[in-house]
Parts: sequence; C-alpha cells; structure tokens
Amino acid sequence: DGLNIRAKAAGKLYFGSATDNGELNDVPYTKTLSNTSDFGQITPGNSMKWDATEKSRNVFSYANGDSIVSLAAGNGQLLRCHTLVWHSQLPSWISSGDFDNATLVSIMRNHVTNLVTHWKGKCYAWDVVNEALNEDGTYRTSVFYNTIGPAFIPIAFAAAAAADPSAKLYYNDYNLESAGAKSKAAANIVKQVQSYGAKIDGVGAQAHLIVGSVGSASSLQSNIQSFTSLGVEFAYTELDIRSTTPMSDSTKAQQASDYAAVTTACKNVAKCVGITIWDYTDKYSWIPSVFAGQGEALPWDLNFVKKAAYTAILNAWGTA
Ligand code: G3I
Repeated sequence: DGLNIRAKAAGKLYFGSATDNGELNDVPYTKTLSNTSDFGQITPGNSMKWDATEKSRNVFSYANGDSIVSLAAGNGQLLRCHTLVWHSQLPSWISSGDFDNATLVSIMRNHVTNLVTHWKGKCYAWDVVNEALNEDGTYRTSVFYNTIGPAFIPIAFAAAAAADPSAKLYYNDYNLESAGAKSKAAANIVKQVQSYGAKIDGVGAQAHLIVGSVGSASSLQSNIQSFTSLGVEFAYTELDIRSTTPMSDSTKAQQASDYAAVTTACKNVAKCVGITIWDYTDKYSWIPSVFAGQGEALPWDLNFVKKAAYTAILNAWGTA
C-alpha cells in the first residue's frame, strides 16, 4: 500500500516526488524514493533547467538529467521533465545577453529542440513554460517577454511539440490553485497557445501552499475544472504545505487536512492526472532556505518518518 497505489486506484496516473542529483547518494533517501508503492513518478528539481543544460551557448550537458531519467526508468516511474523556458536559473550569457527578437527566438527554439529531442520518449510531460505571470495576471518581465513579447509562449510550445509529439506539454506556475487574476491569465495562456495552432496539453499548479490557507476541497476542485474545461489536463506539480516551525499539534492536524483537501480535489476531477510533491522529506525541502523560520512542509520528516499528512493523503485517495 502507498500513496501511488491509492492514487492509481482512484484513477490517477501517478503520485510522485521531485528529487535532485545530490540527494541520490543518500541511500535510505533513494530507497524510499524508488518505492513505487508511494512514488510512481519523479521530477528532476534542478538538473534539466537552462543553467544545468546549456551553460554556454549551444553546448549541452545532459549527464545529471540522464541520471534521474535512468533512475526513473529503472524503477518503472514516469517522469515529469522540468523546465524548458523560465526567467530564473538562466546562465548569464542569456540573462545578460542583448539579443534581438529573431536571435532570441532562435536561441530559445534551439534550447527547446535540443532538450526535448535528447529526452524524447522519456518524459511523460514537459513543463514547457514556467512562471510567465505576475500575481495580477500581467506577464512577468523576463528576457523572453521583453525581447519576444507574449509570442515566446506559443513559439516554445510549438518547438516542443515538433521535437516530441507524444510528451504532454504543460504551462506551469504557482498561485494557480485558487480562482483569481493569475488563474484567469493562465487560462488565457492556454487559449492563446491554442489560437496559435500550437499544442498545449496541460496546466500545472505548483501548489507551494501555506498551512491554513489552502481552502476547501470544493473550491480547489472548481478551480481545477476552470482549466480542464478548456480541453487540457491538470496536475499539482510541486506540492508542499509550509508553516512556521516548530509546528504545534494543531498545526500538524491542519496541515494533514490541507493535504487531504488538495488530494480530494484532484481525485474528484477525472482530468487531474496526478500530484507531485516537491521532494518528499523535510531533509531536502527548499522551504527553509528561502522562507526563514518556515518549513516542515512535506509528508515525511527529516528522519524519513511519515507524518499525519501522509496518512491524510492516503485516506483521501480512498481504498486501494
Ligand atoms: O548547485 C549549487 C552548488 O554547486 C552550490 O554549492 C550551492 C550553494 O548555494 O548551490 C547549488 O545550487 C542550488 C540549487 O538549488 C541546487 O541545490 C541553488 O543555489 C539554489 O538556488 C537552487 O534552488 C532551487 C530553486 O528552484 C531555484 O530557483 C531548488 O533546489 C529547487 O527546488 C527550486 O525549484 C523551484 C521550481 O523549479 C519552480 N517552482 C518553484 C520551486 C521552488 O523554488
């Protein structure tokens, strides 16, 4: 029994976790990650990003990404590949380069084509464009937006579709878990890519959430449906639910019910294909390094002991 077994019994494709190369030397860590009762899918947290794959222009390095691809293949796990076009973790040759529109379009197409071709057939899904929006729904300033304009998004999707027609192509962002200006703008991105005649298959809601601010399963669910009604699938792609630490017993109970709400929302929408947590143990969570005084965001603690949140997700999927 486990989170992935229950997710599949509920009709989902997977329950999964992010991971990173440096963590894989941790034997007990990797053993749990490789247990397909809990994890049917993995996402490389860093090793497919631009700064890891194309540090110098048109010089590609795939070794770290390949390690995670072979781990997933060896375990029989699906892979969500992350991420092709993002304003962050860019090497300086591109973030501080001064390219004209046509040159940057060709740089971006070259990056997308090379990565998607290299991992063709290995990725269940690609996060093609990541975090292109501000909270108010306007486009985020980035080298891509500033130089190419909003067309950078359909151009990236078209290049990815050409390189691997069977990978599911996603727009991925945070704060897409509830209704509002940003979710509406993400829906508009889906429509815009479709109107360009390019393929888009899914919306990924990262779901970096805060204990007590998650909302009800039914509100989460109607927001998922606002995306799936556009003809695309949906996934929670980077779920974690953080709090100030140390957490009290009542905060832990709230966290468990928040995890259950997210799981129930996904369970209730056929086109929500799965949930990925952003690593599974607090030992390797990104939260404390970015939000001082916060953490304990994942279902396993830093000693790999399962928390109430684990049981809450299991029960929310229902019986196997
Ligand atoms: O690899 C270097 C290492 O050589 C160096 O010694 C060390 C010292 O700081 O840094 C290492 O790089 C770090 C990298 O993670 C690998 O551990 C970076 O500093 C650190 O900034 C980077 O953080 C990553 C973050 O994205 C960067 O934006 C997190 O691990 C990763 O989990 C996080 O993931 C993002 C998603 O891609 C998109 N959504 C938000 C999410 C959380 O920020």
